[in-house]
Amino acid sequence: MDRNILLNPAVPSPCYIVYESAIDANLKILDSVQKRTGAKILLALKGFAMFSLFPRIRAVLHGIAASSIDEARLGYEEFQKEVHTCAPAYPDADFEGLLTYSDHITFNSFTQWDHFRPQVQMHLKPVRCGIRVNPEHSEVKTPIYDPCGPCSRLGVTRDRFDDSNLGGITGLHFHTLCELNADSLERTLLAVEEKFGAFMDRMGWVNFGGGHHITRSDYDVDRLCRIITDFKNRRGLTVYMEPGEAIALNTGVMVATVLDIIHNRMDIAILDTSAAAHMPDVLEMPYRPEIVGAGQSGEHAHTYRLAGMTCLAGDVIGDYSFQDPLHIGDRLIFLDMAHYSMVKNNTFNGIRLPSIGIIDTTNQFHLVRRFDYPDYRNRLS
Ligand SMILES: Cc1ncc(COP(=O)(O)O)c(C=O)c1O
Repeated sequence: MDRNILLNPAVPSPCYIVYESAIDANLKILDSVQKRTGAKILLALKGFAMFSLFPRIRAVLHGIAASSIDEARLGYEEFQKEVHTCAPAYPDADFEGLLTYSDHITFNSFTQWDHFRPQVQMHLKPVRCGIRVNPEHSEVKTPIYDPCGPCSRLGVTRDRFDDSNLGGITGLHFHTLCELNADSLERTLLAVEEKFGAFMDRMGWVNFGGGHHITRSDYDVDRLCRIITDFKNRRGLTVYMEPGEAIALNTGVMVATVLDIIHNRMDIAILDTSAAAHMPDVLEMPYRPEIVGAGQSGEHAHTYRLAGMTCLAGDVIGDYSFQDPLHIGDRLIFLDMAHYSMVKNNTFNGIRLPSIGIIDTTNQFHLVRRFDYPDYRNRLS
């Protein structure tokens, strides 16, 4: 990463900046999985939907996974390959559009399947339908990210699985992981097959969901390939996976600027960004983003609490230390800011959304989008 480009005033602040070469590096790993196993990998738009990069992602992945009519439409219009839709429930008003944009639609209950089946059958374009199953096997430790926790609404549990109602259903879908390695998939697949394996000979495909951290440096790609190949050999089914984070992991940064430095028991730097508005997972997950050149609180000589510019008392990114004191106007570079940031940000307090830029493969910065007052106003009336 060339810091000088990011510190150049030609790059607006705040700004998410995604590196094409880093996306390409992730795609290379994902492509190797596809080539070694024949599995088809989809980009889950809920995690990363920067469509100016779709041309290079489309060259490798088979399509997108959508969770709403608008994601399905974005995939249909901008990605222009397979669109697989899966959500906890579909509003009646959206369903015709979902049929138009989607190649696969997965239902979260047999009630929804019963409700929409006539519309599916009457639709001119064939749409493949699936049922999301819940193996009740938890691998995720954070409860709000665990689709298999107690009383989860996500997927049909075995006791509710109506095998007399599978006419027209061609596939099963499970999504149970979050930022996990192949060992978690292996244990999950055992649970899925134990509970739902008996119905798989009536299916044509299984979607292994997302949450596979395939592009993380310690991810066991060989084990993933063994699991998929073994499953395909035993079952003869098409395997889809729909990671979001793995496509954009470690591909982007966010540049922000120090607006003020105050003191209340400790030094506090107020930035032109916000945890609540521009990096909501910092508060929701929660996690601590890495910053170039910064250490843990007290690790270097100068420690600051880095805080956002909204009114929320808890709009705090974290405590970080630096070798040199911070000054008003200094730029900070937050790492790994491409996924679950642009897709989740908001204009709380009227704070303007960060700009979006790309660093191309020749190391040139290109501004993709700058946001303005209408982007705030148009959401509100
Ligand atoms: C159904 C489904 N598919 C795919 C994903 C993408 O997961 P990730 O970005 O963790 O790979 C999610 C994330 O919540 C999901 O709910």
